[in-house]
Amino acid sequence: MRIDPAAALEGHFAVPGDKSVSHRSLLLGAVSDGETDIRGFGRSADTLSTLEAVRTLGATVDDGETITVRGVGLRGLQGGGLDCGNAGTLARLVAGLLAFQDGEFTLTGDESLSSRPMERIAEPLRRMGAQIETTDGRLPLTIRGTTLTAIDYELPVASAQVKSAVLLAGLGAHGRTTVVEPTPTRDHTELMLREAGVRVTTRPTSVSVDPPQRLALRTVEVPGDFSSAAPFVVAATIVPESWITIHDVGLNHRRTGLLDVLDRMGARVGILTRRRLGQEPAGDLEVRAAELTATTIGPAEVPALIDELPLFALLAAHARGTSRVRGAEELRHKESDRIEALVDALRAIGVRAKAHPDGFEVTGVPARPRGGKVEARGDHRIAMLGAIAGVASREGVDVRGFESVSVSFPGFHDLLEQVSRR
Ligand code: S3P
Repeated sequence: MRIDPAAALEGHFAVPGDKSVSHRSLLLGAVSDGETDIRGFGRSADTLSTLEAVRTLGATVDDGETITVRGVGLRGLQGGGLDCGNAGTLARLVAGLLAFQDGEFTLTGDESLSSRPMERIAEPLRRMGAQIETTDGRLPLTIRGTTLTAIDYELPVASAQVKSAVLLAGLGAHGRTTVVEPTPTRDHTELMLREAGVRVTTRPTSVSVDPPQRLALRTVEVPGDFSSAAPFVVAATIVPESWITIHDVGLNHRRTGLLDVLDRMGARVGILTRRRLGQEPAGDLEVRAAELTATTIGPAEVPALIDELPLFALLAAHARGTSRVRGAEELRHKESDRIEALVDALRAIGVRAKAHPDGFEVTGVPARPRGGKVEARGDHRIAMLGAIAGVASREGVDVRGFESVSVSFPGFHDLLEQVSRR
């Protein structure tokens, strides 16, 4: 896909529903009693993998403008084989729910997902008594449902997926399950469990669940995905003369670390109206082009912008000075090795960038980079990085493997074209 330079980004628009919240609404809807209506569902290859998975597990899903899930109850999922596609969130979260069901389950995925670490969830689930086997630490994964006992578990890596897997297993375990997280990660699971009537106890560095009799979710209003808004926020910041407004974006502060980073780089991002959709904060973002200065991101900040770090690298390319990211080793275990992928992408368009084992550094100049060819490596976030680099470049960018954007944002290219003034 060829992405030409834009003179500016302009317009008012919304982005699809949050991917993390969409996955969770289907999974929790499936184990609820009664019906759950999901409004603003973020339809993408990843969330459709979850939709198919919950059908395989026995839930009925009416797939329309509003999605209605008829749940089978907390212990009513039926055995089978699940193809998780590219969706790490599905594979890791569903494992927690399956660990206490009456049945046998096999989880498979595409090439990228099959290379990602799964022992990180298998290990704590086994401590709870789960019968779970990985294939050399990866997918395929088999689970034989059994009786579970609650644990106190300290996360060895800052991962919302691991935290969620343990909490979801805790729904069916005897006793109170606690997850200690040294660095806070996204809390969509906790918020939605509470909405479904589960007793969730949060403390500054831990969260506990008590096993409920039943869940009843009823309605979920999914906010716009901050991670899908982020490419446009970054594009409007670095392409001169831009001015955009993005409506109804999820603004859960455990997701919006990029806004704090943008603020200290000198960006002009305003939050126009704040509201709540269920338990999730949301609002409208107004973004204008700005001149940026370099900054450093350390380990404590990483989880709140983990999926935006490739885009941060592009901001850094436009900022005066050298920007650094440390404590982001997790980037090596995403849909691609994102440290190598983003450093290669930046170099390919003429930017000075260097990889470190747990991060990277980028030396920026407040001018458009040349452009060139970017390899998406089958990773939707790298494909979007390439496209935004294209609109902000002098000569345009060819993104190879661009189709992977459909993993999270099938309409991304159309929207980018619509808001780009050439
Ligand atoms: C997600 C958590 C994050 C994030 C992923 C979605 C979630 O992964 O990178 O895109 O929905 O819980 P980790 O929690 O493994 O870092």
